[in-house]
Amino acid sequence: MTHTFPEGFVWGTATAAYQVEGAWDADGKVPSVWDTAMHTWLKTPDGTSGDTAIDQYHRLDGDLDILQKLGAGAHRFSVSWPRIITDAKGTINQAGLDYYERMVDGLLARGIAPALNLYHWDTPQWLEDLGGMMERDFAEWLADLATVVGARLGDRVGRWFTMNEPSHPSLGGYVAGFLPPARKEGSAGLVTVHNLLLGHGRSIQALRAAGVKGEIGTILSQSGVAPATSHPDDVRAAERAEHFEGGLFLNPMLGRGHLPEMAATLGDLIRDGDEEIIAQPMDVLGLNWYSLYSAASVERAAAHLADLPPRGAMFAGLAPATAGLGFAVVPAPGLPWGGAHRQLTPGGLRHALDWVAQTYPDHPDIVITENGVGYPETADAAGFVQDDDRIRYLGWALEELSDAIADGARVRGYHVWTSFDNFQWMAGFAQRFGLVHVDPHTQARTPKASFGWLAEAVRTGTVPP
Ligand code: NOJ
Repeated sequence: MTHTFPEGFVWGTATAAYQVEGAWDADGKVPSVWDTAMHTWLKTPDGTSGDTAIDQYHRLDGDLDILQKLGAGAHRFSVSWPRIITDAKGTINQAGLDYYERMVDGLLARGIAPALNLYHWDTPQWLEDLGGMMERDFAEWLADLATVVGARLGDRVGRWFTMNEPSHPSLGGYVAGFLPPARKEGSAGLVTVHNLLLGHGRSIQALRAAGVKGEIGTILSQSGVAPATSHPDDVRAAERAEHFEGGLFLNPMLGRGHLPEMAATLGDLIRDGDEEIIAQPMDVLGLNWYSLYSAASVERAAAHLADLPPRGAMFAGLAPATAGLGFAVVPAPGLPWGGAHRQLTPGGLRHALDWVAQTYPDHPDIVITENGVGYPETADAAGFVQDDDRIRYLGWALEELSDAIADGARVRGYHVWTSFDNFQWMAGFAQRFGLVHVDPHTQARTPKASFGWLAEAVRTGTVPP
């Protein structure tokens, strides 16, 4: 059966500044918390860092030419905050803004619609030195970034996102503390969720005040959670985990206020009027989907806790921080994150979309802002990768998406993660998600088999065999 996509469905790619740009100290850019971590305690398995990443800062035109060959109509990228605002006086670095202007104009010249994300985890170190996301003022600083970028590019960018997967820098960076800036604050760190939410609302207000013409929304991770076993305790735990994963940011963003357990934990850190600031109307909701989580009751999962993969560890870090959550994310067959082979989890994308539609029937139209798969791939002598596993994974995810849309899911577009192999955070280049192979030493770019496969999907508007 042919799987098709509706008229006007937008295909795209996605990246993040720190993962591709390199040029970590070029043209006035100052360090982010990721630069600081990479230059001190954080070592990747292959010794790579974002100092150079794939050097896109210096190779922009060539990379945009490759993107154009894919034929996709949209490209999502993030701006590097410490490239644009360089100190606590709010000094603006015009050279940083110039780069993003070249990006936007270069995309438009090639018929690709830019989708600009303001914040993808690279908090300026100077802001962290002021207390970072632990401080309420973080939200005002993010709104300042929105004002500056909105004023410069608001006439040309058709879609704006406030932030990407905020659960990662908040829970990973300040609660569990295994991501930069690696502050293990426990339950005190949950205030970062509130401060990010305020930053989301304040930057939407700032973008609108700057007169941006495009749609505005945000990007959340929406994996969905299934019970590890059919035991009633695990079924209940999975419901709790899903409520928490899905609602932590979306509930307040869509005007339902903080989840009750968050409201209880935050207490009077939530001020009158905050919930209105956070619940700014959004035109579009970006969802990143990779694979379903699996959850079990804390007691039943205890035997596995030592083996949790990184993303599981992030949510496990919550259990002691937020009293009574009563779930643990467990490693389950078919859900390796960073393993050599990712098994497919049929039904997972559908599960995530259904949960959002059922929980928030009035949700803004959705764009899948990331979907893809990472492997420790090796290229042949010519730099080519026959990435059949990736083609299978993408084919299955797209078939599921096509079916969901046919059944009424309001999804308007799909961005693959990612165009080029890039710096995969803690995993360096040991885990590659690109449609184009990149050798981080020579910076040679070679399209993989999946590049041609996705180009055909874009050209035909169907899922190729
Ligand atoms: C989520 C993040 O937004 C992105 O930065 C990351 O590389 C991919 N997913 C894969 O882990």
